[in-house]
Amino acid sequence: MKKSDVVKALLSECACEPGARGRAFAPANIALCKYWGKRDEELNLPITSSLSMSLGAWGATTEIAPRDGADRVWLNGGEQRPDSSFAARVSAYLDLFRTDHGFDVRTESRVPIAAGLASSASGFAALVLALNELYGWGLERRALSILARLGSGSACRSVHDGFVEWHAGSRADGMDSFAEPLARTWPELRLGILEVSAAEKAIGSRAGMKSTVATGALYASWPEKVADDLLEVHAALETHDFERLGRAAESNALSMHATMLSAWPPVLYWLPDSVKAMHAVWAARERGAPVYFTMDAGPNLKLLFLESDRSIMEKEFPNMRIVEPNEREDA
Ligand code: PMV
Repeated sequence: MKKSDVVKALLSECACEPGARGRAFAPANIALCKYWGKRDEELNLPITSSLSMSLGAWGATTEIAPRDGADRVWLNGGEQRPDSSFAARVSAYLDLFRTDHGFDVRTESRVPIAAGLASSASGFAALVLALNELYGWGLERRALSILARLGSGSACRSVHDGFVEWHAGSRADGMDSFAEPLARTWPELRLGILEVSAAEKAIGSRAGMKSTVATGALYASWPEKVADDLLEVHAALETHDFERLGRAAESNALSMHATMLSAWPPVLYWLPDSVKAMHAVWAARERGAPVYFTMDAGPNLKLLFLESDRSIMEKEFPNMRIVEPNEREDA
Protein backbone atom coordinates (compact mmCIF):
# COMPACT_ATOMS: atom_id res chain seq x y z
CA MET A 1 0.00 0.00 0.00
CA LYS A 2 1.22 3.49 -0.89
CA LYS A 3 1.04 6.72 1.10
CA SER A 4 -1.17 8.15 -1.65
CA ASP A 5 -3.74 5.35 -1.09
CA VAL A 6 -3.99 6.28 2.59
CA VAL A 7 -4.35 9.97 1.73
CA LYS A 8 -7.04 9.16 -0.82
CA ALA A 9 -8.99 7.10 1.70
CA LEU A 10 -8.78 9.73 4.43
CA LEU A 11 -9.61 12.67 2.17
CA SER A 12 -12.26 10.99 0.02
CA GLU A 13 -14.92 13.36 1.28
CA CYS A 14 -12.76 16.45 1.64
CA ALA A 15 -12.26 19.49 -0.55
CA CYS A 16 -9.17 19.37 -2.73
CA GLU A 17 -9.05 23.06 -3.68
CA PRO A 18 -6.80 25.00 -1.30
CA GLY A 19 -7.88 28.22 0.37
CA ALA A 20 -5.66 31.30 0.74
CA ARG A 21 -3.47 30.11 3.61
CA GLY A 22 -3.20 27.81 6.62
CA ARG A 23 -1.17 28.28 9.78
CA ALA A 24 -0.66 26.01 12.77
CA PHE A 25 1.61 25.18 15.69
CA ALA A 26 2.64 21.70 16.87
CA PRO A 27 4.87 20.81 19.82
CA ALA A 28 7.97 18.65 19.67
CA ASN A 29 7.72 15.44 21.68
CA ILE A 30 10.08 13.21 23.62
CA ALA A 31 9.30 9.51 23.93
CA LEU A 32 9.39 8.00 27.41
CA CYS A 33 8.88 4.64 25.72
CA LYS A 34 10.51 4.69 22.31
CA TYR A 35 9.51 3.86 18.76
CA TRP A 36 12.35 1.94 17.12
CA GLY A 37 11.57 -0.30 14.18
CA LYS A 38 9.00 -0.30 11.40
CA ARG A 39 6.75 -3.08 10.17
CA ASP A 40 6.04 -1.03 7.02
CA GLU A 41 8.68 1.34 5.66
CA GLU A 42 6.39 3.14 3.24
CA LEU A 43 3.65 4.00 5.76
CA ASN A 44 5.94 4.38 8.81
CA LEU A 45 4.02 1.68 10.67
CA PRO A 46 5.80 0.74 13.90
CA ILE A 47 6.53 -2.69 15.30
CA THR A 48 5.60 -1.51 18.82
CA SER A 49 3.47 1.15 20.44
CA SER A 50 5.25 4.11 22.05
CA LEU A 51 4.46 6.82 24.59
CA SER A 52 5.65 10.42 24.63
CA MET A 53 5.37 13.76 26.31
CA SER A 54 4.72 16.80 24.14
CA LEU A 55 6.87 19.81 24.87
CA GLY A 56 4.32 22.60 25.28
CA ALA A 57 5.47 25.78 23.55
CA TRP A 58 8.61 24.08 22.21
CA GLY A 59 7.69 23.26 18.67
CA ALA A 60 7.13 24.59 15.18
CA THR A 61 4.69 27.00 13.59
CA THR A 62 4.09 26.46 9.89
CA GLU A 63 2.33 28.70 7.43
CA ILE A 64 1.41 27.43 3.99
CA ALA A 65 -0.09 29.08 0.93
CA PRO A 66 -0.52 27.88 -2.64
CA ARG A 67 1.55 29.53 -5.38
CA ASP A 68 2.09 29.18 -9.12
CA GLY A 69 5.29 27.36 -9.95
CA ALA A 70 7.65 25.35 -7.79
CA ASP A 71 7.60 25.17 -3.99
CA ARG A 72 9.51 27.71 -1.92
CA VAL A 73 10.44 26.62 1.59
CA TRP A 74 11.71 28.78 4.46
CA LEU A 75 13.03 27.64 7.82
CA ASN A 76 13.42 30.24 10.57
CA GLY A 77 13.37 33.02 7.99
CA GLY A 78 15.98 31.50 5.69
CA GLU A 79 14.93 30.18 2.28
CA GLN A 80 16.06 26.57 1.82
CA ARG A 81 17.55 25.35 -1.43
CA PRO A 82 15.05 23.01 -3.16
CA ASP A 83 17.66 20.24 -3.07
CA SER A 84 18.33 20.64 0.67
CA SER A 85 17.15 17.66 2.67
CA PHE A 86 14.59 19.81 4.55
CA ALA A 87 12.97 21.32 1.44
CA ALA A 88 13.09 18.04 -0.48
CA ARG A 89 11.28 16.20 2.33
CA VAL A 90 8.63 18.91 2.61
CA SER A 91 8.03 18.97 -1.17
CA ALA A 92 7.87 15.18 -1.44
CA TYR A 93 5.26 15.19 1.33
CA LEU A 94 3.25 17.98 -0.33
CA ASP A 95 3.15 15.92 -3.54
CA LEU A 96 0.59 13.78 -1.70
CA PHE A 97 -1.86 16.67 -1.58
CA ARG A 98 -1.18 19.13 -4.41
CA THR A 99 -3.01 19.23 -7.73
CA ASP A 100 -0.99 21.29 -10.18
CA HIS A 101 0.50 24.08 -8.09
CA GLY A 102 3.35 24.78 -5.71
CA PHE A 103 3.35 26.04 -2.14
CA ASP A 104 5.07 28.69 -0.06
CA VAL A 105 5.92 26.99 3.23
CA ARG A 106 7.33 29.00 6.13
CA THR A 107 8.33 27.18 9.29
CA GLU A 108 9.47 28.89 12.47
CA SER A 109 10.91 26.44 14.94
CA ARG A 110 11.03 27.49 18.57
CA VAL A 111 12.94 24.32 19.27
CA PRO A 112 16.59 25.36 19.21
CA ILE A 113 18.02 23.47 16.29
CA ALA A 114 21.37 23.36 18.05
CA ALA A 115 19.82 21.48 20.97
CA GLY A 116 19.46 18.40 18.81
CA LEU A 117 15.72 18.49 19.36
CA ALA A 118 14.81 19.75 15.92
CA SER A 119 13.27 16.43 15.13
CA SER A 120 10.95 16.22 12.19
CA ALA A 121 8.06 15.50 14.57
CA SER A 122 6.87 19.03 15.29
CA GLY A 123 7.58 20.12 11.69
CA PHE A 124 5.45 17.45 10.02
CA ALA A 125 2.69 17.75 12.62
CA ALA A 126 2.54 21.54 12.15
CA LEU A 127 2.51 21.07 8.38
CA VAL A 128 -0.43 18.65 8.53
CA LEU A 129 -2.40 20.92 10.87
CA ALA A 130 -1.68 23.88 8.56
CA LEU A 131 -2.82 21.84 5.52
CA ASN A 132 -6.02 20.93 7.37
CA GLU A 133 -6.69 24.64 7.74
CA LEU A 134 -5.60 25.56 4.20
CA TYR A 135 -7.91 23.00 2.61
CA GLY A 136 -10.65 23.25 5.23
CA TRP A 137 -10.65 19.45 5.59
CA GLY A 138 -12.09 19.60 9.10
CA LEU A 139 -10.41 16.27 9.89
CA GLU A 140 -10.37 14.84 13.39
CA ARG A 141 -7.11 14.38 15.30
CA ARG A 142 -7.01 10.65 14.60
CA ALA A 143 -6.90 11.19 10.84
CA LEU A 144 -4.45 14.09 11.24
CA SER A 145 -2.21 11.84 13.33
CA ILE A 146 -2.24 9.22 10.56
CA LEU A 147 -1.37 11.87 7.95
CA ALA A 148 1.48 13.19 10.13
CA ARG A 149 2.83 9.63 10.50
CA LEU A 150 3.22 9.45 6.72
CA GLY A 151 5.70 12.34 7.01
CA SER A 152 7.63 10.98 9.99
CA GLY A 153 6.58 8.29 12.45
CA SER A 154 7.05 10.26 15.66
CA ALA A 155 5.18 13.24 14.14
CA CYS A 156 1.89 11.40 14.71
CA ARG A 157 2.37 12.01 18.47
CA SER A 158 2.94 15.77 17.97
CA VAL A 159 -0.65 16.48 16.94
CA HIS A 160 -1.52 16.27 20.65
CA ASP A 161 -0.41 18.03 23.85
CA GLY A 162 0.48 16.29 27.08
CA PHE A 163 1.18 12.57 27.38
CA VAL A 164 0.46 10.71 24.16
CA GLU A 165 0.37 7.04 23.20
CA TRP A 166 0.92 5.93 19.62
CA HIS A 167 -0.91 2.64 19.12
CA ALA A 168 1.12 0.34 16.88
CA GLY A 169 -2.00 -1.14 15.29
CA SER A 170 -1.97 -4.25 13.15
CA ARG A 171 -3.76 -3.34 9.93
CA ALA A 172 -1.81 -3.27 6.68
CA ASP A 173 -3.30 0.11 5.77
CA GLY A 174 -2.30 1.56 9.16
CA MET A 175 -5.74 3.01 9.89
CA ASP A 176 -5.40 1.69 13.46
CA SER A 177 -1.89 3.13 13.92
CA PHE A 178 -2.46 6.61 15.35
CA ALA A 179 -1.64 8.63 18.44
CA GLU A 180 -4.05 9.43 21.24
CA PRO A 181 -3.67 11.76 24.22
CA LEU A 182 -3.75 10.20 27.69
CA ALA A 183 -6.08 11.54 30.35
CA ARG A 184 -3.10 12.15 32.67
CA THR A 185 -1.35 15.35 33.63
CA TRP A 186 1.79 16.00 35.65
CA PRO A 187 2.34 19.76 35.89
CA GLU A 188 5.56 19.43 37.92
CA LEU A 189 7.40 17.30 35.36
CA ARG A 190 10.34 19.02 33.63
CA LEU A 191 12.71 18.12 30.84
CA GLY A 192 16.28 19.35 30.71
CA ILE A 193 18.34 19.27 27.52
CA LEU A 194 22.00 18.41 27.97
CA GLU A 195 23.58 19.18 24.66
CA VAL A 196 26.60 17.10 23.78
CA SER A 197 26.82 17.95 20.09
CA ALA A 198 24.71 19.89 17.61
CA ALA A 199 26.40 18.30 14.59
CA GLU A 200 24.21 16.41 12.15
CA LYS A 201 24.14 12.71 12.94
CA ALA A 202 25.90 10.30 10.63
CA ILE A 203 22.96 7.93 10.35
CA GLY A 204 19.33 9.07 10.30
CA SER A 205 16.61 7.34 12.31
CA ARG A 206 15.10 5.70 9.21
CA ALA A 207 18.36 3.98 8.24
CA GLY A 208 19.26 3.24 11.88
CA MET A 209 15.93 1.51 12.51
CA LYS A 210 16.06 -0.45 9.30
CA SER A 211 19.52 -1.79 9.99
CA THR A 212 18.65 -2.61 13.64
CA VAL A 213 15.52 -4.54 12.67
CA ALA A 214 17.34 -6.41 9.88
CA THR A 215 20.54 -7.33 11.73
CA GLY A 216 20.26 -6.51 15.45
CA ALA A 217 20.70 -9.72 17.43
CA LEU A 218 19.00 -8.10 20.44
CA TYR A 219 16.08 -6.66 18.47
CA ALA A 220 13.94 -9.76 19.10
CA SER A 221 13.74 -8.80 22.78
CA TRP A 222 12.65 -5.20 22.08
CA PRO A 223 8.83 -5.66 21.69
CA GLU A 224 8.62 -7.42 25.05
CA LYS A 225 10.74 -4.74 26.72
CA VAL A 226 8.47 -2.02 25.29
CA ALA A 227 5.35 -3.85 26.49
CA ASP A 228 6.78 -4.00 30.04
CA ASP A 229 7.92 -0.37 30.00
CA LEU A 230 4.58 0.87 28.68
CA LEU A 231 2.86 -0.73 31.67
CA GLU A 232 5.40 0.86 34.00
CA VAL A 233 5.04 4.31 32.46
CA HIS A 234 1.24 4.11 32.56
CA ALA A 235 1.34 3.09 36.23
CA ALA A 236 3.85 5.82 37.08
CA LEU A 237 1.77 8.50 35.34
CA GLU A 238 -1.32 7.33 37.15
CA THR A 239 0.25 7.49 40.61
CA HIS A 240 2.76 10.31 39.93
CA ASP A 241 5.56 7.96 40.96
CA PHE A 242 8.55 9.86 39.61
CA GLU A 243 11.17 7.23 40.37
CA ARG A 244 9.12 4.60 38.57
CA LEU A 245 8.68 6.86 35.57
CA GLY A 246 12.36 7.79 35.42
CA ARG A 247 13.55 4.21 35.77
CA ALA A 248 11.26 2.97 33.03
CA ALA A 249 12.18 5.82 30.65
CA GLU A 250 15.94 5.54 31.22
CA SER A 251 15.94 1.77 30.97
CA ASN A 252 13.80 1.90 27.82
CA ALA A 253 16.18 4.36 26.13
CA LEU A 254 19.27 2.35 27.07
CA SER A 255 17.65 -0.85 25.84
CA MET A 256 16.80 0.80 22.52
CA HIS A 257 20.44 1.80 22.15
CA ALA A 258 21.48 -1.74 23.06
CA THR A 259 19.44 -3.10 20.15
CA MET A 260 21.28 -0.67 17.85
CA LEU A 261 24.67 -1.76 19.17
CA SER A 262 23.79 -5.35 18.34
CA ALA A 263 23.26 -4.43 14.66
CA TRP A 264 25.90 -4.90 12.00
CA PRO A 265 27.40 -2.56 11.08
CA PRO A 266 26.84 -1.23 14.61
CA VAL A 267 24.62 1.82 15.09
CA LEU A 268 26.00 4.05 17.83
CA TYR A 269 24.71 7.58 18.32
CA TRP A 270 26.70 8.25 21.51
CA LEU A 271 29.81 10.38 21.65
CA PRO A 272 32.37 10.15 24.46
CA ASP A 273 30.68 13.17 26.07
CA SER A 274 27.31 11.38 25.99
CA VAL A 275 28.76 8.66 28.20
CA LYS A 276 30.33 11.31 30.45
CA ALA A 277 26.91 12.95 30.78
CA MET A 278 25.32 9.59 31.68
CA HIS A 279 27.89 9.16 34.44
CA ALA A 280 27.14 12.69 35.63
CA VAL A 281 23.43 11.81 35.88
CA TRP A 282 24.18 8.61 37.79
CA ALA A 283 26.58 10.47 40.12
CA ALA A 284 23.97 13.17 40.77
CA ARG A 285 21.43 10.43 41.54
CA GLU A 286 23.92 8.84 43.97
CA ARG A 287 24.12 12.21 45.71
CA GLY A 288 20.34 12.14 46.08
CA ALA A 289 19.18 14.22 43.10
CA PRO A 290 16.06 12.60 41.62
CA VAL A 291 17.06 12.73 37.95
CA TYR A 292 16.86 10.29 35.04
CA PHE A 293 17.74 10.59 31.38
CA THR A 294 16.43 9.53 28.05
CA MET A 295 18.14 9.68 24.63
CA ASP A 296 16.99 9.48 21.04
CA ALA A 297 18.81 8.87 17.77
CA GLY A 298 21.53 11.35 18.64
CA PRO A 299 24.24 12.11 21.22
CA ASN A 300 22.27 14.48 23.49
CA LEU A 301 20.67 13.62 26.82
CA LYS A 302 17.21 14.71 27.92
CA LEU A 303 16.90 14.81 31.69
CA LEU A 304 13.68 14.15 33.56
CA PHE A 305 13.14 15.86 36.90
CA LEU A 306 10.50 17.61 38.99
CA GLU A 307 10.03 21.37 39.41
CA SER A 308 10.62 20.98 43.16
CA ASP A 309 14.21 19.87 42.37
CA ARG A 310 14.92 22.68 39.90
CA SER A 311 17.54 24.43 42.04
CA ILE A 312 19.43 21.17 42.74
CA MET A 313 19.32 20.41 39.04
CA GLU A 314 20.55 23.85 38.03
CA LYS A 315 23.53 23.37 40.35
CA GLU A 316 24.28 19.85 39.10
CA PHE A 317 23.81 20.71 35.40
CA PRO A 318 24.51 24.42 34.86
CA ASN A 319 24.49 24.03 31.06
CA MET A 320 21.10 22.35 30.90
CA ARG A 321 18.19 24.06 29.07
CA ILE A 322 14.90 23.55 30.86
CA VAL A 323 11.68 22.81 28.97
CA GLU A 324 8.31 23.26 30.64
CA PRO A 325 5.98 20.80 28.90
CA ASN A 326 2.89 22.61 30.16
CA GLU A 327 3.75 26.03 28.83
CA ARG A 328 1.27 26.75 26.03
CA GLU A 329 1.89 28.20 22.61
CA ASP A 330 -0.63 30.91 21.75
CA ALA A 331 0.72 31.75 18.30
O1 PMV B 1 9.99 9.52 13.70
P1 PMV B 1 11.44 9.34 13.47
O2 PMV B 1 11.74 8.65 12.20
O3 PMV B 1 12.17 10.67 13.62
O4 PMV B 1 12.00 8.37 14.62
C1 PMV B 1 12.07 8.72 15.98
C2 PMV B 1 12.83 7.73 16.75
C3 PMV B 1 13.20 8.10 18.18
O5 PMV B 1 13.23 9.49 18.35
C4 PMV B 1 14.58 7.55 18.48
C5 PMV B 1 12.24 7.47 19.18
C6 PMV B 1 10.88 8.09 19.35
O6 PMV B 1 9.97 7.35 19.71
O7 PMV B 1 10.74 9.31 19.15
